[in-house]
Amino acid sequence: MSERTLGAYIHVPFCSSRCGYCDFNTYTASELQRDGTTVSAATYAERVIAEIAWTRAQMPDDARQIHSVFVGGGTPTLLSAEALVSIIKALDTEFGIAPEAEITTEANPDSVDREYLATLRDGGFTRISFGHQSSSTHVLQLLERTHTPGKTWQAIAWAREVGFEHVSVDLIYGTPGESEEDLISTLQDVAKADVDHVSAYSLIVEPGTRLAARVARGEIASPSDDVAAGRYEIIDEHLTAMGMTWYEVSNWSLPGGECKHNIGYWRNQDWLGIGPGAHAHLQGTRSWNVKHPAAWASKVDGGESPAADYEVLDAEDIAREDIMLRLRLREGLPLAGLTEDALGEAQVAATEGLLEPEALAQGLAVLTFKGRLLADGLVARLWA
Ligand SMILES: C[S@@+](CC[C@H](N)C(=O)[O-])C[C@H]1O[C@@H](n2cnc3c(N)ncnc32)[C@H](O)[C@@H]1O
Ligand code: SF4
Repeated sequence: MSERTLGAYIHVPFCSSRCGYCDFNTYTASELQRDGTTVSAATYAERVIAEIAWTRAQMPDDARQIHSVFVGGGTPTLLSAEALVSIIKALDTEFGIAPEAEITTEANPDSVDREYLATLRDGGFTRISFGHQSSSTHVLQLLERTHTPGKTWQAIAWAREVGFEHVSVDLIYGTPGESEEDLISTLQDVAKADVDHVSAYSLIVEPGTRLAARVARGEIASPSDDVAAGRYEIIDEHLTAMGMTWYEVSNWSLPGGECKHNIGYWRNQDWLGIGPGAHAHLQGTRSWNVKHPAAWASKVDGGESPAADYEVLDAEDIAREDIMLRLRLREGLPLAGLTEDALGEAQVAATEGLLEPEALAQGLAVLTFKGRLLADGLVARLWA
């Protein structure tokens, strides 16, 4: 049996309202009503559990226990805490969850209270990731977030009180109208909070979102790459001063706070993908579920595969994915699998200050600070 670790991603496709920048596969209650589906947060866990059982039945000889679980969204915390715990129990019953497994849920700061968090912790969750985004009210307004900044710090304090081992916050930077002072004040708040992990993403204007429409109408300026690069530098400086280290281009942690589940993605390990639109990767095959909750529910209810399609990865696909994912990790991309041309590009990139020369001499492509800012371009060059 494969040496690869087995993770589980559970998608929860509900949000109380849609943030203007977000194009994730998520729906508000009124959108679902309009689509005439029977899917709702109240009954969602039952179908997730049915899909877990169906998935198990397809792989009876796989003896691996689950090494990490990530419940993401959408807003998983729109489900009751008991419902989230019942999903973890089902994974344990069907596959077995390894004793040291990391079990994460994403959460919006305004959808939890202390008792809710205690139920999650007692039910096996070890890690929680709050979408804070910014401490500036005007930035949160532009992003159309529903929470006030103070909510995050209260939720983090509760999470620690009830015994969560790992707590993370997500930040968005480079929002038009965000000043350097806004970002620094957000980072000062993070420094005061008891978190061991931060993910920071530059604001992407995704086609089809309200944000994209407002940018197109000229109501909001387009985020600038130069501003984003300057903001990334500020983030890296502040988080480093808090004792955190980058371990992936957009992720920093205290020692031991790295997200095991996401490392599984970046190292191309195996994972189950449960829920509408969820992606799975098992033994060199990628598959993805039908996207709409109603279509997914009817497949699950009928005992059919909820997969929309799949793709068997060949050696070239795997090599390209390895470059795209592993180059972003501080542990680096092993040079052993690279073509002659890519090796030549890596040497040039080192002379340009994008890769660490000492690591290169030891057979690894490791991004420098400048390389982190230009990682996407370097991936394209190594692919060519
Ligand atoms: C899809 S959300 C799910 C978690 C939760 N609903 C929340 O909003 O915090 C996960 C993260 O994706 C990031 N994200 C989503 N859309 C983005 C965009 N267009 N640009 C940058 N970051 C984005 C946000 O930082 C968010 O915290
Ligand atoms: S709460 Fe999260 S998933 Fe929902 S719309 Fe906002 S960013 Fe997207």
